[in-house]
Amino acid sequence: RQTAPTPAAIRAAKGGTPLVALTAYTTPTARMMDGVVDIVLVGDSVGMVLHGLPSTLGVTMEMMILHGQAVRRGLGASLMVVDMPFGSYEAGPETAFANAARLMSETGSEAVKLEGGRHMADTIRFLVARGVPVMAHVGLTPQSVHALGGYKVQGRGAAGEALIADAQAVAEAGAFAVVLEKVPAALADRVTSEVPIPTIGIGASAGCDGQVLVVDDMLGLFTEFRPKFVKRFATLGERAEAAIAAYAGEVRARTFPAEEHTFADTAPGETT
Ligand code: KIV
Ligand code: NA
Repeated sequence: RQTAPTPAAIRAAKGGTPLVALTAYTTPTARMMDGVVDIVLVGDSVGMVLHGLPSTLGVTMEMMILHGQAVRRGLGASLMVVDMPFGSYEAGPETAFANAARLMSETGSEAVKLEGGRHMADTIRFLVARGVPVMAHVGLTPQSVHALGGYKVQGRGAAGEALIADAQAVAEAGAFAVVLEKVPAALADRVTSEVPIPTIGIGASAGCDGQVLVVDDMLGLFTEFRPKFVKRFATLGERAEAAIAAYAGEVRARTFPAEEHTFADTAPGETT
């Protein structure tokens, strides 16, 4: 694909071929997935995955802007969405708009994502009316980890109805899609059939309208812990560790650099 889908096109993809989403935080990873996935999310997971933070709570606007700018340079054929970090949107619609506008204007992203259901509906409506396409995120919302008492499955049993109400509320408020994180598969299927916007699952169900994963998780680069919903499509972390160990060994044995990596005093035609 040569051009990025618009938020309206993503919304219209409800019920069709599943939407493919991945996170990215850097230019080279964005280049690898450009045009291959539908949606690239500059997730606030960047704080844990690349900066070693214990949760997403310490992620700042400045971090999201810096990584958003890096991703933008590698992306032209996938929709780019930037996460609003903790503290940048919860106080009210005006604050949320100021920060969403800053994220979009300074990174060039086409949309933002924020966490929350019914209690964020007024804010989503305010942003959408002012030109900010919004992706919502319900179920396990990691910025509320302390309020939730851990990274637990959400919406089990009687709590399922509240989760459906949350997804309905963000759809009615104008969100173009909604992430469903760590919810029972049957509940995700119900939300998918009852809510008119695409559901993007992570730890949800193959019946969702799309899926998202954290890129470092699915590449096997982030190995501090592994949620049940992560499938490692590669084990790049193990290969990187082996390469680093091999380099250390060759330096200590003086087998690297070899002659092919060094320069003669005179070398006709050699320019680099
Ligand atoms: O920050 C993130 O990576 C996310 C996705 C997992 C949905 O919010
Ligand atoms: Na996030």
